[in-house]
Amino acid sequence: MPKSLKILITRQVFPEVIDFLGADFEIDYNESDVVLSTDELCERAASCAGLLCCLTEKIDNTFFEHCPTVRVVSNIAVGYNNIDAIEAKNRGVKITNTPGVLDDTTADLTFTLLMAVARRITEAESLLRQGRWKKSFAVQQMLGTDIHHASLGIIGMGRIGQAIAKRAAGFDMQVRYFNRTPLDATTEQKFNVCYVSQEAILRNSDFVLVMVPYSAATHHLIGAEELALMKPSAILINTARGGVVDEVALIAALKKNQIAGAGLDVFENEPAFNPEFLGLKNVVLTPHIGSATRSTRMAMAMLAATNLKAALQGKTPPNWVNP
Ligand code: GLV
Repeated sequence: MPKSLKILITRQVFPEVIDFLGADFEIDYNESDVVLSTDELCERAASCAGLLCCLTEKIDNTFFEHCPTVRVVSNIAVGYNNIDAIEAKNRGVKITNTPGVLDDTTADLTFTLLMAVARRITEAESLLRQGRWKKSFAVQQMLGTDIHHASLGIIGMGRIGQAIAKRAAGFDMQVRYFNRTPLDATTEQKFNVCYVSQEAILRNSDFVLVMVPYSAATHHLIGAEELALMKPSAILINTARGGVVDEVALIAALKKNQIAGAGLDVFENEPAFNPEFLGLKNVVLTPHIGSATRSTRMAMAMLAATNLKAALQGKTPPNWVNP
């Protein structure tokens, strides 16, 4: 049967996703996975009704001007700061995301980074790989920071923050959180977490995690002033969005040992990152892999495809962010 609607899939996904969408739509598939330039994106989307995209695609006024037939943009991510959702709403374009399916996987990675920085895993491994391990056991070799019974401060207590708190309970950590809206008492009890101000988190935590969505309001939420409040022994972890932390201020704080370390999965200008990070021993860096397990990325891509199909078929998509 001829398929009346065309969609653009901007990045490589899984064959299952292509089969699922191919049953109903004509597909323009960027299987090469090379990130499309703005011009290419606009050109290829111009004849489409919908888009399955990633946070590598900037969907803004320019895009909407060039692609007036696009009615749905389905992001394969929970965060959608790459999309101007308000402009989309004004133009009647539905935007969807993929919440829920990545919470545990992202919490796992966040905890992995926390542990890697605390126990100096990458630094210790390079010592071994570079043939610098000379003394078998040494009492003062590669001394790290305890994770168990430490205090953990979570800024942004949504689903991922809560999944992290669950993991922290297994390590007997004391968890405090700050959120725009405090959790209700039952949920606080369930996760054994206590609401405090952001300043109290910064001043008192051994580990500070930022788990907020990126927006103008959270741009450089952690900057020089906030870093100055942290303990010299504290470790900062960011698996949210690069722009939430002022990288220049963070590098300065790490260089002068104002804080003890950082674990970063996200950067302000990905895939570029400030090369000064590479010269710092007290950081662990990963290339935006928070949700990167096969089953979770499959779940995210299928959920995004489900959102796109529902919206294009005139149904309410399960994860519509700009109704
Ligand atoms: C990934 O960063 C996401 O927002 O899902």
